Amino acid sequence: MACLLLLLLSISHAAMAAAAGAGASRCHIPKDDGSTLRVLHAFGPCSPLGQYASWEDRVADLVARDESRLAYLSSLAVAATGSASVPVASGRQLLQIPNYVIRASVGSPAQPLLVALDTSSDAAWVPCFGCAGCTSATPAFEPARSATYLPVRCGSPQCTQVPNPTCPAGATACSFNLTYGGSSVQAALAQDVLALASNVVSVYTFGCLQKVTGSSMPPQGLLGLGRGPLSFLSQTRDLFSSTFSYCLPSFKSLNFTGSLKLGPAGQPRVIKTTPLLSNPRRSSLYYVNMTGIMVGRKVLDVPAAALAFDPATGAGTVVDSGTMFTRLVAPAYMVLREEFRRRMRAVGPVTSLGGFDTCYSGSAVTPPSVTFMFTGMNVTLPPENVMIHSTAGSTACLAMAAAPDNVNSVLNVFANMQQQNHRVLFDVPNSKIGFAREPCTSA
Ligand SMILES: *[C@@H]1O[C@H](CO)[C@@H](O)[C@H](O)[C@H]1NC(C)=O
Ligand SMILES: *[C@@H]1O[C@H](CO)[C@@H](O)[C@H](O)[C@H]1NC(C)=O
Ligand SMILES: *[C@@H]1O[C@H](CO)[C@@H](O)[C@H](O)[C@H]1NC(C)=O
Ligand SMILES: *[C@@H]1O[C@H](CO)[C@@H](O)[C@H](O)[C@H]1NC(C)=O
Repeated sequence: MACLLLLLLSISHAAMAAAAGAGASRCHIPKDDGSTLRVLHAFGPCSPLGQYASWEDRVADLVARDESRLAYLSSLAVAATGSASVPVASGRQLLQIPNYVIRASVGSPAQPLLVALDTSSDAAWVPCFGCAGCTSATPAFEPARSATYLPVRCGSPQCTQVPNPTCPAGATACSFNLTYGGSSVQAALAQDVLALASNVVSVYTFGCLQKVTGSSMPPQGLLGLGRGPLSFLSQTRDLFSSTFSYCLPSFKSLNFTGSLKLGPAGQPRVIKTTPLLSNPRRSSLYYVNMTGIMVGRKVLDVPAAALAFDPATGAGTVVDSGTMFTRLVAPAYMVLREEFRRRMRAVGPVTSLGGFDTCYSGSAVTPPSVTFMFTGMNVTLPPENVMIHSTAGSTACLAMAAAPDNVNSVLNVFANMQQQNHRVLFDVPNSKIGFAREPCTSA
């Protein structure tokens, strides 16, 4: 079992200033050792992938990233069936934005890399040496320096599972390319050893990126934790039994206080759970049955159709690590927002900020509790999971929004800000997902 620590991202001005100025000293990124891996937020103040000048910039960017994430999830949810489950990305996955990054290594001897975690993806890729157009923040993987690197051969079963496999006359190695909008990617299908802290996956199949054009490029490798048949989780079934859990720490700390545990060992025994629903049209997404929403103790009158699971349209609710702020389809969000505003009347006038439409001035704003009701499980969010606070601007916003207003907007997404400081257990063999409060943020 690996215990992967997650870095927390502060979104306060103080922390941004620290990251931008005094810098790395405040970031306190411990080394990996034993079975422990640290996890970085891909867009956090300590991330090697980039920094923001201000809290407003960061929130605006995260909201914008969520917009494209939602479009991606919706496209997955409504995608037609087919041989869609592949060990590498479909073109659509270029547009999705995973939030958390871990250190892994590939090859023999091991070459360190950053890979993003994504619970809604089955993809596996790494930027490879010489990749034209890759924007990796860390050195790319060099196949030539690995004694265990093996190109997947043309004619092998895996080669038939990737999109647009190319095996021109004379070629023995399987490669493929994909397009999405203005972006295209060319990759070699390959196998090598993958190490995650002390866990070693001896034959890991992934796309070795060789050429990327267009604007939607993955900045690092991707480790899909989706439950599709050929995802990382499925490839490592013998090691981890398709079971993992994480605790995402509060965004107010820079320390690595959260964890990701792979495998059934060490998982909580006593935890509230709700059944996983499977959508055969999109097997990688973690669908659950959201049955209602409460503000305080009041059960809201949410139209049943806004929550109903429907594999044919992709409608329903997914738990996702890659979306930052929970999105509800408009009829559900409006009901929540109205009751929330009613409870907050005394605080002052409602303002908006970035993508948030229910904000208040004042540093000591305490929101009512919000409870998401699932089959067999109620999850009551503590105040810090309900509102996002700007320390310098003294603004606090309801940290949720309506799903984008388009025809595909049928999906409710229970996102990572609302999951923080909870142990979230993904137990695929027993077809359930569990939640338990677990403060994993150091004071
Ligand atoms: C895909 O690969 C083939 C063969 O290398 C090439 O002719 C084609 O232009 C590529 N398509 C894209 C969109 O990159
Ligand atoms: C991070 O951890 C160190 C040592 O455990 C502690 O002194 C420091 O206050 C922590 N910082 C934050 C922001 O939590
Ligand atoms: C979700 O829960 C509702 C209310 O209990 C129930 O009517 C519905 O059948 C459930 N849907 C699924 C897919 O389990
Ligand atoms: C969730 O809360 C509602 C309202 O208080 C209650 O009726 C229901 O029994 C609770 N469900 C569970 C699984 O605890």
